[in-house]
Amino acid sequence: SVDDRIEDLMSRMTLEDKVHQMCQYVGLEHMKHAENNITAADLDKNDALGFYPGMLSKDVGILAKEGKIGSFLHVVTPEEANELQKLAQESPLKIPLLIGIDAIHGNGLVSGSTIYPSPISQAATFADDLIKEGSRQTALEMRANGMHWSFTPNIDVLRDPRWGRTGETYGEDPYLVGNMGIATINGLQSSNFSGENNVIACAKHLIAGSSSINGLNASPTDVSKRTLFEIFLPPYRRAVQEANVYSIMAAHNEVAGMPGHMDKFMMNDLMRDRWGFEGFYVSDWNDVSRIALWHHVATDFKQSIEFSVNAGMDMNMHGPVFDKHLIELVNEGKVDEARVDYACRKILEAKFRLGLFENPYVEIEKSKEVNFTEAHQKNALEQARRAIVLQKNKKGFLPLAEKGKGKTIFITGPNANNQTTLGDWVSPQPEENIITMVEGMKSIGEENGYRINYFDSGDRSKEITKANIDRAAYHASHSDIIVLVLGENSFRHDWKRKTTGENIDRATLKLSGNQMKLADKMFELNKPVIIVYVSGSPIAEPWLEQRAAAVVNTWESGAFAGQATAEILFGEVNPSGKLPLTVPRSVGQLQMVYNHKPTAYIHKYNTEKKVPLHPFGFGLSYSKFELSAPKVSKADFAGINDSIEVTVDVSNKGTMDGEEVVQLYIRDDVSSFTRPVKELKGYKRIAVKAGETKSVTIPISAESLAMYDKDFNFVVEPGTFTIMTGNSSADKDLKEIKISVKERITLDKNI
Ligand code: IFM
Repeated sequence: SVDDRIEDLMSRMTLEDKVHQMCQYVGLEHMKHAENNITAADLDKNDALGFYPGMLSKDVGILAKEGKIGSFLHVVTPEEANELQKLAQESPLKIPLLIGIDAIHGNGLVSGSTIYPSPISQAATFADDLIKEGSRQTALEMRANGMHWSFTPNIDVLRDPRWGRTGETYGEDPYLVGNMGIATINGLQSSNFSGENNVIACAKHLIAGSSSINGLNASPTDVSKRTLFEIFLPPYRRAVQEANVYSIMAAHNEVAGMPGHMDKFMMNDLMRDRWGFEGFYVSDWNDVSRIALWHHVATDFKQSIEFSVNAGMDMNMHGPVFDKHLIELVNEGKVDEARVDYACRKILEAKFRLGLFENPYVEIEKSKEVNFTEAHQKNALEQARRAIVLQKNKKGFLPLAEKGKGKTIFITGPNANNQTTLGDWVSPQPEENIITMVEGMKSIGEENGYRINYFDSGDRSKEITKANIDRAAYHASHSDIIVLVLGENSFRHDWKRKTTGENIDRATLKLSGNQMKLADKMFELNKPVIIVYVSGSPIAEPWLEQRAAAVVNTWESGAFAGQATAEILFGEVNPSGKLPLTVPRSVGQLQMVYNHKPTAYIHKYNTEKKVPLHPFGFGLSYSKFELSAPKVSKADFAGINDSIEVTVDVSNKGTMDGEEVVQLYIRDDVSSFTRPVKELKGYKRIAVKAGETKSVTIPISAESLAMYDKDFNFVVEPGTFTIMTGNSSADKDLKEIKISVKERITLDKNI
């Protein structure tokens, strides 16, 4: 058995060997890239060069050959993966390497991969199975390229869209985030990540970095224990208990004075002991050393390692010295060797189960066959079609198909004809694999009898010059319809022009640079303007939306963004995406979430409305869906295993077949602690043909009604609950019914 094999191997390992399994380094090619900038004078100094002080890629290669490295990250070609494994096979114990990568929405750092819509877009689909299938495909592409471990899903519940990593999240709702996280983990790991078609997943980042006090990445967070348990932790508990996620990454940030990388309560007491996490922890980029460097709660790196490993950390991302210090700490009795044994055992278990001891190598040719197959492309396109949210459609302006054929559509804007549609954690992809907005509009628009005219406005501030705006106006004045492709840019390798993404946070939710100047000029022409947003995070421009004929929020919808968007504009696909977060009117309204507490909006702002621009769960369709009031299978909920079925009839009163997402929200009417005005507890995406009516049934379980009491037991308190169903979280879109609970129910104490 795997256990026997681990015991046998560990019986032959020294303390040093075991500690080395806990060490991760960046790939040698990545290091070489940094080394290209090193001068001869630098080399003489043998100092902090490239990635690791005093070390070059060749030195790291020697460590791999000596068996002193357990894992690599950011290895982006199968050739390099094989070379590294070959080095490991030359080491005394021949333990294969575990290779990790940020395959966040497809194996995007590898050129030629399938690029699926980014996580925020995936959440907008409310289509868990489609996301699971896409993740299964990503696992196949990873394995064919020699990678075994994806640093995804990011199950940080978004509370502040200034955070540049908003596009990497599944939005603001803990239930939706949990479902998307589970779908992703199940797709990547299957049931137990065994064999050559699976990889291990990594739930990240523990915890609450999506709610820093100033919206900046890695800044302090100060949320209460109650908010942690109600908002931030449920997706982690479910990732562990429902999907057996095999790794968790700690967060850069502190919570109420405790840096995530030494939070023993979180990592050990809660996740492992109470919730049963059986995998291993990995640090984030250099964050163990930052316990001293940034947080100042340890004197130096060595003490940081002591605190972190004792709190439960199992692998250090990334680099040297960690091993030396940890060996000393064990020898000095400051870290128990059992902690090292535990970490080593878990890391070896991954390697055994993934089949790396049988064969650590990949066939280079196979990677080309598995990347970007037709089936993978199809899934990426289906995700994009369902992710796009129609935010406005004035007097049914869209779809364009039948109206005014033969007319000219002018398309421009900074995201119109490039790879910004791919989002973060993606390297530049072969042009032939990507359909930009302009390409999509040209092929589908022309098929529909329109002429498409494109002008490159340049990219945001510097390039959207006055001259370019005037030229755009000239083209627009000779056209009938204007399509403006605006938004933000999180494309990883576009460093100079990025406006959001990891470590680039937003101080405003308005469009960056000169985009509004371009838009203003277009509106002056008094022609219909369709706004197409490409952005991983929400854009708060109410005045722009008010003037537009239509607003289509495409998020970052991946390789086929242009095709899916054009299909929607021309009515070949009926839009059905729903917002996975609240779109505020302005940054000053933050924190604005749909699942707020009852007193959040008692008073008013002096210069701003207190309603959002668009509510969570909202998204228009070309069909008119009518949803009946909810019916319940019974009115009283009794006991821990009980379930009530809620049924809603969905009628498509329009002329086009379409899909609708029926949403179920619950409010605990009177409770011992304040509860949100509503919380999403179920949803179903359903296809309904024009003129047809279909029923949807969504179950309510004890967990849907439960809350944490004063002792943090998970309980259902007696009383009434309001069940609301509809097609957005806005009160006007919801119909309700009451159910009641007579006796208090206590759920499993391990929740
Ligand atoms: O996985 C990421 C993490 O989310 C942010 N810091 C770097 C890691 C590895 O790339």
